[in-house]
Amino acid sequence: MKQDMIVILDLGSTENTVLARAIREQGVYSEIHPHDITCEKLKSLPNVKGVILYGGENRIVDGTAVEVDPAIYDLGLPVMAIDHPTAKCENLAAMPSADALKTWLFDVCKAEANWNMKNFIADQIELIREQVGEGKVLLALSGGVDSSVVAALLVKAIGKQLVCVHVNHGLMRKNESEMVCDVFGKYLGANLVYVDATDRFLTKLENVADPEEKRKIIGGEFIRVFEEEARKLEGIEFLGQGTIYPDIVESGTKTAKVVKSHHNVGGLPPDLQFKLVEPLLQLFKDEVRACGVELGLPAEMVYRQPFPGPGLGVRCLGAITRDRLEAVRESDAILREEFANAGLDKKVWQYFTLIPDFRSVGVKNNARAFEWPVIIRAVNTIDAMTAEIEEIPWNVLKKITDRILAEVKGVNRVCYDLSPKPCATIEWE
Ligand code: XMP
Repeated sequence: MKQDMIVILDLGSTENTVLARAIREQGVYSEIHPHDITCEKLKSLPNVKGVILYGGENRIVDGTAVEVDPAIYDLGLPVMAIDHPTAKCENLAAMPSADALKTWLFDVCKAEANWNMKNFIADQIELIREQVGEGKVLLALSGGVDSSVVAALLVKAIGKQLVCVHVNHGLMRKNESEMVCDVFGKYLGANLVYVDATDRFLTKLENVADPEEKRKIIGGEFIRVFEEEARKLEGIEFLGQGTIYPDIVESGTKTAKVVKSHHNVGGLPPDLQFKLVEPLLQLFKDEVRACGVELGLPAEMVYRQPFPGPGLGVRCLGAITRDRLEAVRESDAILREEFANAGLDKKVWQYFTLIPDFRSVGVKNNARAFEWPVIIRAVNTIDAMTAEIEEIPWNVLKKITDRILAEVKGVNRVCYDLSPKPCATIEWE
């Protein structure tokens, strides 16, 4: 890493990542480290231009306020301290204003604004080549933002030494697997193994109505298919992963009350021993997207809305049937197209359709039609922990309804879900 860095020492503020983002927005790279980092470790970090001690509501651990090694003040680096004296004085630990931050970064620390995606990509290509040498890297390419950006970066760095495996579990959205194959197989010329495991997944899921059971089957089967493909390949030493910065920060803090653990290699068998290549480890989500744009990935891929691992499997409620699954896929495609036409794709965080496992009576072409309802869900949220319902203009809803009723087989009703989270969750299963 050739870029200048500001180190934030975590003394219990819940705003560490907000501050790191604010510094990066000024074009200066910033990393968060635990409060008990040793002086030696701090000195060994590359190009550190300043240190921020950021205290906050979680500073008191087991009755004592955590402190940093006092020798850090003698390193000759500019040190800025921000603190809440107590958890009750919420407004005291004001984040420095953008102007104050700029003055500190550029006048006091003399940092250079050299954090940008071009430099990041150039650095990472060098680091990946150094780590991997002549070795081969395996990557599970789901088509999600993180795995797609890692794939594009690895293709650029090591070309055919990367083997991407895309497992189509048959629960992808319309044209999603095709896009992965086009972008990575054709356009980027990646070494791509495409596995159509649709029948295998749908057979396993037959007559399984319990949501948790469905998720378990989909997750478990995914690992098994991936493992089978991995065993067919020879000489793979590395596994590429799209772990990003918030995953590390949330798992690694020593002061936060709620520690969330992330399992990106979820359940890979222990005899599949790989060394990890994780080039996005330093990036926040929006930086991952910027990196994808810089690497030339299409906007649909980079700005893709969140999509659950079990895919349409949790939106075809109850026991999955092929006809209902197809109807979910088609109605979802219509919804996405019309949201894009109305400019709502930029405004709404997540939107999709789902089909319950019951039918209702209707009338089509003067005859009784006992068919499925399609339910539309459109929510806005910051962190998916709570969510608000989006107010969709009536004419857009009407157009979507007309199109779904005219174009999707087996559907005679369209409903709009008005429930926020809580009480509801975003997905229905
Ligand atoms: P809920 O339904 O819990 O969803 O309100 C919150 C967010 O998480 C997504 N979601 C998942 N993502 N694997 C994922 O990667 C899953 O199993 C999963 N389940 C829910 C959901 O789409 C929403 O954005």
